[in-house]
Amino acid sequence: MVTIADIVTEIAAEMRDVSERGTVASYIPPLAEVSPDKFGIAVVMADGAVHVAGNADEAFSIQSISKVFALTQSLGAVGDQLWLRVGREPSGSAFNSIVQLETEQGIPRNPFINAGAIVLCDVLLGRYEPREAIGQMLRFVRMLAGDDAGSITIDDAVAHAEQDTGFRNMALANYMRAFGNIRAPVERVLGVYFHFCALAMSCRELAMAGRYLMDGGRVDGHSVVTASRARRINALMMSCGHYDNSGDFAFRVGLPGKSGVGGGILSVVPGVASIAVWSPGLNASGNSQLGTLALERLVQRTGWSVF
Ligand code: DON
Repeated sequence: MVTIADIVTEIAAEMRDVSERGTVASYIPPLAEVSPDKFGIAVVMADGAVHVAGNADEAFSIQSISKVFALTQSLGAVGDQLWLRVGREPSGSAFNSIVQLETEQGIPRNPFINAGAIVLCDVLLGRYEPREAIGQMLRFVRMLAGDDAGSITIDDAVAHAEQDTGFRNMALANYMRAFGNIRAPVERVLGVYFHFCALAMSCRELAMAGRYLMDGGRVDGHSVVTASRARRINALMMSCGHYDNSGDFAFRVGLPGKSGVGGGILSVVPGVASIAVWSPGLNASGNSQLGTLALERLVQRTGWSVF
């Protein structure tokens, strides 16, 4: 019988031979230095079994995948009031697009585009100082991943490079401030946003951190969010987790998923598995080329699509 462990090993081996690997993000210098040859996969099953292959234990910049954790924390801070300031519809636009904000009163389409996540950071600053918000995020993700040793970190070099190159994010934040949808000083909000983007962890750690979304909001038997909130976060990951490529990801993979320009994807099979893949080469929408292909093959071989 072919096991999940066999399938994971087989997919990692297949990925070594794929020549069309996408383009590594170059707009943030530290990301541009990562080799496109990297590929890692980790699958954490509901019964606790963990299957890994390739570069699954190498830390990478999770970038926009942090928006999932920021959404979870913002909902924890203000509950459904959040939805007065952020929408729940796919944008159909690039992750860093500004266009819809003009006609939609500075309310971002969803929490998983840059504008949406910048609002999440502002929401957290309604409760915490920037340093506290950043520290809490790091502790939260370590707790989710069961990382007692503290090996998950925030990469300061990446955070600073984000700051140095973040002109579009500055534009988005200032534009939303003009509509009153950013309330704290823009520099403070972006300081938090850039540090969240700079979270660094491995596929194994990321798949562990996603367990609460697989298991009705619970980690190791403890409730992190309610089951209905976990369901809703998964729904948003399915509809909005890959920017203007979300429809294609749902078509090919059929799972909730959230990507980042570091080449990672966190994907969830509710009740069954939490999966992280990483390969730095990106497709035209900024999503991991091989990561998506690997998830597509995993789902074909396991029947894990939610459809
Ligand atoms: O805001 C930015 O430009 C990035 N540091 C985060 C973007 C990201 O990962 C979007 N991705 N697919």
